[in-house]
Amino acid sequence: MSDAGHEEQQAGSRVEPASPAGRQMLVNAEELIAGYVPEVNILNGTQLDLYDGELIGIIGPNGAGKSTLLKAMFGLIPIRSGIVTFRGEDVTGAPAHELVSKGIGYVPQNNNVFPSLTVEENLEMGMYLNPKGFSERFDVVTELFPLLANRRKQKAGSMSGGERQMLAMGRAMMMDPAVLLLDEPSARLSPAFQDQVFIRCKQINRAGVSIIMVEQNARRCLQICDRGYVLDQGTNAYTNTGRALLEDPKVIELYLGTLAKAE
Ligand SMILES: Nc1ncnc2c1ncn2[C@@H]1O[C@H](COP(=O)(O)OP(=O)(O)OP(=O)(O)O)[C@@H](O)[C@H]1O
Ligand SMILES: [Mg+2]
Repeated sequence: MSDAGHEEQQAGSRVEPASPAGRQMLVNAEELIAGYVPEVNILNGTQLDLYDGELIGIIGPNGAGKSTLLKAMFGLIPIRSGIVTFRGEDVTGAPAHELVSKGIGYVPQNNNVFPSLTVEENLEMGMYLNPKGFSERFDVVTELFPLLANRRKQKAGSMSGGERQMLAMGRAMMMDPAVLLLDEPSARLSPAFQDQVFIRCKQINRAGVSIIMVEQNARRCLQICDRGYVLDQGTNAYTNTGRALLEDPKVIELYLGTLAKAE
């Protein structure tokens, strides 16, 4: 095998970003432009990549476009320009059910369980593309979230916010995803449940699931993520390892200062 490999890139060819520790790129979003209302762009050229095994965090002020970025990647709003790839395949604008079947799970910020259904029925909904695999996945998911086994017959609407968040994450895990997109999993939860959420995310990630996590709890998020993205007005303001962002004076001043005081 030749060890050559340093030929110059052809002019105009795309330069792949350096891959952390030689890992395979799972998700890549480039130059995304998207929005809800005609001619109003919320994402203004957003870029993001996720390598196999990573946990990456997205932070930024309210209205920065964090949820919009996840929705655009999950095929829930039209992408006006730019590209999203999954394992190198162009999935720009692919519908959500297709992305689920390819191995991408999504837990939205709000209304992420069916309140009138039981825990078990919610988990079944997570498996609608593969109903035969239910009992096997149920065992895996309830090992991660034992509460869900104990509450199997309880209506989701009668659970606390923290319990519902566990259920929403459990439901997304039913399809055995390669990637989980989590939108503010710790929002509005008690401190004890916030701890649980961050611990479970780390556990799920260690079990081999790559995670893209949007979080208001910016410091906490940067402490556990491998790399972080700071979004502001739909564009990338800062990108670095979680640790480097936590120590970056500009990031602290602009995005962590007030949050730190509020903690
Ligand atoms: N369904 C919608 N229709 C029209 N505009 C929307 C819709 N959802 C969000 N927006 C607008 O898009 C912008 C970005 O919203 P987005 O929800 O992505 O922000 P965010 O960074 O997730 O904020 P937060 O931290 O408050 O969740 C905001 O100006 C918001 O008003
Ligand atoms: Mg949001």
